[in-house]
Amino acid sequence: LFSSVELAPRDPILGLNEAFGADTRADKVNLGVGVYYDANGHVPLLRAVREAEKARVEAMLPRGYLPIDGIALYDQAVQRLLFGASSPLLADRRVVTAQALGGTGALKVGADFLRHLNPNAPVAISDPSWENHRALFEAAGFKVVNYPYYNAPTHGVDVDGMIAGLEALPKGAVVVLHACCHNPTGVDLGAGDWKRVIDTVRKHALVPFLDIAYQGFGDGIDADAVAVRLFADSGLPFFVASSFSKSFSLYGERVGALSIVTASHDEAVRVQSQIKRVIRTNYSNPPTHGAAVVSAVLNHAELRATWEVELGEMRDRIREMRRGLVQRLAAHGAKGDYGFIEAQRGMFSYSGLSAAQVERLRTEFGIYAVGTGRICVAALNDGNLDRVAEAIAQVS
Ligand code: LMR
Repeated sequence: LFSSVELAPRDPILGLNEAFGADTRADKVNLGVGVYYDANGHVPLLRAVREAEKARVEAMLPRGYLPIDGIALYDQAVQRLLFGASSPLLADRRVVTAQALGGTGALKVGADFLRHLNPNAPVAISDPSWENHRALFEAAGFKVVNYPYYNAPTHGVDVDGMIAGLEALPKGAVVVLHACCHNPTGVDLGAGDWKRVIDTVRKHALVPFLDIAYQGFGDGIDADAVAVRLFADSGLPFFVASSFSKSFSLYGERVGALSIVTASHDEAVRVQSQIKRVIRTNYSNPPTHGAAVVSAVLNHAELRATWEVELGEMRDRIREMRRGLVQRLAAHGAKGDYGFIEAQRGMFSYSGLSAAQVERLRTEFGIYAVGTGRICVAALNDGNLDRVAEAIAQVS
């Protein structure tokens, strides 16, 4: 049965974790996967999460099934975070939200639904994009193409190129857009650029699928939702995959959501029924713990305030590490101007390192980065910053 099965390549991001785990060097540094580590190099357990978990454990609740689309109070809290509590879309009950297995699970449920709706539509992702976008939509049966995004010489977005790329897509094409903290480049569109994208999407009848996995890691909860809010104002139908992996430091609990904005409540009811079928035939219904914790925090004024402070602390620390990296790269005589790292948003920096330089970082220094040159700035701390900067300077 398996004699002709070929060995699949390692996952370009999670595969690095495997290699990192097997590395015996004591001073190794993992800048590969997008995980926030605190100043001591640990994945934090947030205070708000700890309190909500304690209350849950003490309540000793039974372990029944959740509804197919998850905890209703969680889904509603997700909607308020994405669209704003006073959004008319919510008052009109035009948004369908289903708890999902992280942002990846939300993308896959959305992709499976879209495949029923329009099986021949191409899916366009940014060039470059999160490695799993292409793999996930291809696995769902779509042809995946790129639209221009990153402008390497300016370390910014090629907005004109992006618009031209979107204009060239056939009607009905699905466009995957990073709502904030673009993964892997760390460069985002401004509000004016988003308006141009929305006009193009409308004019060419494209299907927008926003991916927001880092809300709160750029400029703040509402500021990072600007793209979602502008699409909401546009009156267009769209999809949003969101995640609490990073913002609640709940990676392994797989807490995310798929939200779909429809034209009317009647449409929403029908879309929800189809989303539930997709979920039921994939994994039946989602797990309880992580979403219950997030729901408890977001629906409790004090815990929510604590969480917002903690999210702000993570955001500030990443900024500090960006500044520190730029300074130390200069101090170690790295070739070129790395000032752009400070202007980038979120966990990642597209460092400009080549695949060969990344390979040298790994073999000679035990520093792991994605082959494209993406480094996770959120994994830097005062203990490893200097070593990382010195190593980059040596390979650059
Ligand atoms: C990343 O890009 O490193 C994260 O989103 C983790 C993942 O699943 O790839």
